Amino acid sequence: MDKYTSLHKLKDKMEGDDSLPLKEGATKLVFGVGNTEAKILCIGEGPGFNEDQQGLPFVGQAGKLLDKLLPMAGLERKEVFITNIVHHRAPGNRDPEPSEIAAYGKYLDKIIEIINPEVIITLGRFSMAKFLPNVFISQVHGKKHRVFWKDKEIIVVPMYHPAAALRNGNVLEAEKNDFYELKEILRRMGEGKKKEVPKSEQMGLI
Ligand code: URA
Repeated sequence: MDKYTSLHKLKDKMEGDDSLPLKEGATKLVFGVGNTEAKILCIGEGPGFNEDQQGLPFVGQAGKLLDKLLPMAGLERKEVFITNIVHHRAPGNRDPEPSEIAAYGKYLDKIIEIINPEVIITLGRFSMAKFLPNVFISQVHGKKHRVFWKDKEIIVVPMYHPAAALRNGNVLEAEKNDFYELKEILRRMGEGKKKEVPKSEQMGLI
């Protein structure tokens, strides 16, 4: 089954799952959006008011900022896939509880498995903690981390949450630098790949 179909099937399953803890207070499921063949997966925290109304991630103020940050890394929104750590809005936009993160986690894991990204950009500390527990975002933001995810190496780049950047000018400056630096990280990864010599071409190498 192709990724597009698998993701739609998963979305249908999630929509029918009444055990999801934030479902009752939410308007719409915010599953994810973007290129189902993406090499880069962005994971935010959870839907806010606008996302809950529209059923799409990052469509409010934080999303508008994300739309400006992605091009700094040479990326367009339509190139990446964007989802969240929880997929229903928490009441009053409060932080998600560990039990809620765990409940949505089984679906997020499946999204990651289907997309099979090379790079995961975490937006904010909740999605960062999924891959990099016990670190402070102030110490690791913008840096490239190799993470083993179900036997596969994925590059995780933790970023500040765009909403935090909207609240604090220093965070905004750091965020912009991190996205410019991400362009370099992605460029170097691309070059690394080009240098790989396929096995079929290795004969005769000295
Ligand atoms: N903030 C998030 O973390 N995710 C969204 O989808 C919107 C705002």
